[in-house]
Amino acid sequence: MRLYLDTADIDQIRKAVKLGVISGVTTNPSLVSKAGWTDYKSAVQEICSIVKGPVSVEVLSQEAKSMIQEARAMAKWSEHVIIKIPVCDAGLEALSVLSKENVRVNLTLCFSLNQALLGALAGAAYVSPFVGRLDDVGQDGMELVAEIVSCFDHYGFATQVIAASIRHPLHCVTAAQVGAHIATVPYGVLTQMINHPLTTVGIARFQEDAQKAAGKG
Ligand code: E4P
Repeated sequence: MRLYLDTADIDQIRKAVKLGVISGVTTNPSLVSKAGWTDYKSAVQEICSIVKGPVSVEVLSQEAKSMIQEARAMAKWSEHVIIKIPVCDAGLEALSVLSKENVRVNLTLCFSLNQALLGALAGAAYVSPFVGRLDDVGQDGMELVAEIVSCFDHYGFATQVIAASIRHPLHCVTAAQVGAHIATVPYGVLTQMINHPLTTVGIARFQEDAQKAAGKG
């Protein structure tokens, strides 16, 4: 499983990329606004200059025709740009046109196997089931990820599954266990994945013992 960072915060992206474990970034309008960016294009181009992997950028248009125009323009911002389009009539129509032009689309706000299936059939490069938001309404979000992975494997679809709306490290564990191609994680969750109390204690103990062995203890 690959890991993407789910943020538009440049400092977080710089720090995460240094760790060598992040191969892409996902953004959405809420994350761009939270990061304080007013110029969407500059934000995306800066992110692409740091990450050098797929960077998902969401269209804001609501009609298929304008989604397509917006996506074509965004795709020219950088070779790394992946167009994020929500699942809806207009989104599927736009996706089917864009995929034939080799514009890579991440079908987002996916909450059912049927939506993911439609995305794969229309040519999505990625589908993003939103795990945390499903958990929030009492449905098992990771069960949906497992269903989509199994369905895509069964039919040999090339569409990759991004486990999105990740809220805690256990989501990442389960995403890896059920075979998600990618999990996109907030910076805080990435930090939680690194740390373990026994590692912290172990490092401190090794330091103490090394100092004792050197006669400094
Ligand atoms: C990523 O593609 C999604 O936009 C993001 O994971 C949504 O996360 P949230 O449900 O925490 O807003």
